[in-house]
Amino acid sequence: MEKNEKIPNHVAIIVDGNGRWATEKGMSRSKGHEAGFVNLQKLTAYMYSRGVKYISAYLFSTENFKRSETEVNFIMNLLTGKLKEILEFCHKEKIHAIFSGRKDKLSNKVLVAMNKIEEETSGYKDRCFNICFNYGGRAEIIDATKKIVNDVNAGKIDINSLDETIYENYLYHKLPAVDLMIRTSGEKRISNFLLWQCSYAEFYFVNTYFPDFKAEDFEMALDDYNKRDRRFGGIDYDKKSN
Ligand code: IPE
Ligand code: IPE
Ligand code: MG
Repeated sequence: MEKNEKIPNHVAIIVDGNGRWATEKGMSRSKGHEAGFVNLQKLTAYMYSRGVKYISAYLFSTENFKRSETEVNFIMNLLTGKLKEILEFCHKEKIHAIFSGRKDKLSNKVLVAMNKIEEETSGYKDRCFNICFNYGGRAEIIDATKKIVNDVNAGKIDINSLDETIYENYLYHKLPAVDLMIRTSGEKRISNFLLWQCSYAEFYFVNTYFPDFKAEDFEMALDDYNKRDRRFGGIDYDKKSN
């Protein structure tokens, strides 16, 4: 590690370009999703080895249900089929896996497997993998607001005491703010990912399709991140201004 290198505590990745990666190679989009999954394990293992503590990966959005039934079913079955592998991976790398997203539209079998993974890996405190599946940033904010209203009506919290810290207790998980948000495939938009948590994230957009985004590409993102001046609305008056 270079001296003074800043490692982002929480990295979010919009896993994008799987479909184009496959179609440009004359393969079905499904092959792209499979390749994306294989890459995700390798890449996250590398990122944790570099000192990143929290990784959030966007694997299926609430909006992705607009896709064909065949593609939606393929992605659902891919995740379901990989849950055992995810558990093994998390034990091997000592990662606490958590899932973010709406639970409706997911089968009971999948929900049981997700809970098992979350519970079995909960002892790993140094690394956290937030798997965002059937996730939408606006849905998360709406769901949190509903829970808050219930608690206000039940007299559990006083509406006047509501602040950002308390609000965060009602999100799918209490996570630190995203430091670095990476999106592959050339699209330069957030597509409803972690809207609350990304309020001060640094954004890194790269043309590479996700299955081709490797350790060296992450190093380039890190170099770029290290050049950013994060001010959070403040001003460093000790720095010379021109
Ligand atoms: C990302 O790849 C995975 C999901 C959104 C489920 P895409 O499937 O969006 O791939 P492109 O963007 O069409 O190439
Ligand atoms: C965002 O990618 C969602 C995920 C990566 C899971 P999309 O491919 O769905 O986003 P848009 O449609 O290009 O904005
Ligand atoms: Mg896409």
